Amino acid sequence: MAVDALEELRKRHSEAELGGGEARIKKQHDAGKLTARERIHRLLDPGTFVELDKFKTHRCNEFGMGNKKTPGDGVITGYGKIDGRHVCVFSQDFTVLGGSLGEAFAQKVCKVMDFAVKQGYPVVGLNDSGGARIQEGVASLAGYADIFLRNALASGVVPQISAIMGPCAGGAVYSPAMTDFIFMVENSSYMFITGPDVIKTVTREEVTMEALGGAMTHNTRSGVADLHTPSDEECVARIRELLSYLPANNTEDPPILATGDDPERRDPALNGIVPDNPNKPYDIFEIINRVVDDGRFFPIQPDYAKNIVTGFARLNGRSVGIVANQPSVLAGCLDINSSIKAARFVRFCDCFNIPIVTFVDVPGFLPGTAQEYGGIIKHGAKLLYAYCEATVPKVTVITRKAYGGAYDVMSSKHIRGDINLAYPSAEIAVMGPDGAVNIIFRNEIKQAGGDESKRTELVAEYRRTFANPYKAAELGYIDDVIVPEDTRPHLINALEMLKTKRDTNPPKKHGNIPL
Ligand code: HXC
Repeated sequence: MAVDALEELRKRHSEAELGGGEARIKKQHDAGKLTARERIHRLLDPGTFVELDKFKTHRCNEFGMGNKKTPGDGVITGYGKIDGRHVCVFSQDFTVLGGSLGEAFAQKVCKVMDFAVKQGYPVVGLNDSGGARIQEGVASLAGYADIFLRNALASGVVPQISAIMGPCAGGAVYSPAMTDFIFMVENSSYMFITGPDVIKTVTREEVTMEALGGAMTHNTRSGVADLHTPSDEECVARIRELLSYLPANNTEDPPILATGDDPERRDPALNGIVPDNPNKPYDIFEIINRVVDDGRFFPIQPDYAKNIVTGFARLNGRSVGIVANQPSVLAGCLDINSSIKAARFVRFCDCFNIPIVTFVDVPGFLPGTAQEYGGIIKHGAKLLYAYCEATVPKVTVITRKAYGGAYDVMSSKHIRGDINLAYPSAEIAVMGPDGAVNIIFRNEIKQAGGDESKRTELVAEYRRTFANPYKAAELGYIDDVIVPEDTRPHLINALEMLKTKRDTNPPKKHGNIPL
């Protein structure tokens, strides 16, 4: 090989690796951000990244673009490994034309997405872009659409994870929005359809970028994002962690990671967590953390609709998706936001063969005109639909209240819950004792006049008859009433038994989930 040829290759490599040049790299660092290449190297196992299309450039000549060709065209694409398992990755390079997306850029992203689907590898997209490359006009819109189509087709086939690590505006938001999880970096990322200037012109509202579309806005108010991290480094570390719970694609089971936590471990403290007083709240994390392997729980949307908890954990090394009503927020009621949050999570688990463990303590759906006008009927139905159609192993533990329609919704036996357990403190009935007594003993209460003792007596009678797990157990709707300290061995045992579960839905093109 001629020395010159090798020298030429080396030169081309270093030119590509310099992206938009030292000044722009410095600007990126000064803003507290890593470069696109640094992000990839931190995301992947050391030395595993294989880059594709490093020398690809755009072919646009309008607006002086003929002189602005950077090898790689503003996006770094390829494949590598996370914990020894393959993933495909693209990382938008803000130092090159603001990471803006044109035809060549989109072709590169599409190429790795196609690899991912064919090979069955997750896709991780690191976003930091000024959006459609203005100089390329409609070709860049076409490029976005090519990516959107692939996002939709890859959905449910391979996990797709997006990190927002800079701007992500306009129609560009719809690619991350179609992926399974969105991570946002605090103070350096934002997502919106139209920015503060356009909003001011159209609606006269004044809002900052951060308030409009920053990490906290989308993690606490809109529910668009799933997690936020203080830095780029933390963001890619959390993506690695998330992937450790997931299979590479829909035909695989999730990886098993030996954790060393005894599957037979009993925890007597669990016997004292649910308060005797049914109106007293408690933190469901006290139960979850004591039950799962090493107390490790990976939350999804922890700062949104906190009345329901969703996230991943392991039981005897196997990944599980956990859904749990949170009695310490809105008494654990189901409302619009919590229904949507949990429905999406249940569907993700079902796509990717992750068993679902549901902890139930739900007094019902949240009453009120805001909920009714907001469409709680349709949104609550999403969660019901998601649980109904899920064919993965489903294990349910009722810790306290399971009232009304919410009892049915929360992975009950009737919608194909496989193993349904209850604590002795469980109350399973059409409604809580107070409401029920007011209706069925209306006449008796009226006759007693102001005598509250009659009412108290009737409530106590109702509680004895219905506010317990035994009526449901007598009917076989509850498979067993367990001592809370045995929750972990019971769950592990059930999941072990369900390992070979096979269940299907009737053949169809696809269902019509109430969107
Ligand atoms: C071409 C772009 C660009 C774009 C930024 N640049 N956005 N080039 N097309 N969309 C270039 C800038 O010209 C500049 O080039 C470099 O990237 C860095 O940009 P700055 O403005 O200097 O950076 P900063 O001050 O950090 O501001 C970042 C920004 C701003 C807020 C993202 O650049 C901006 O507002 N860009 C336009 C955003 C936008 O309106 N995009 C279209 C959205 S509509 P030099 O050479 O000076 O370094 C859309 C539709 C998608 O995306 C539709 C899909 C269906």
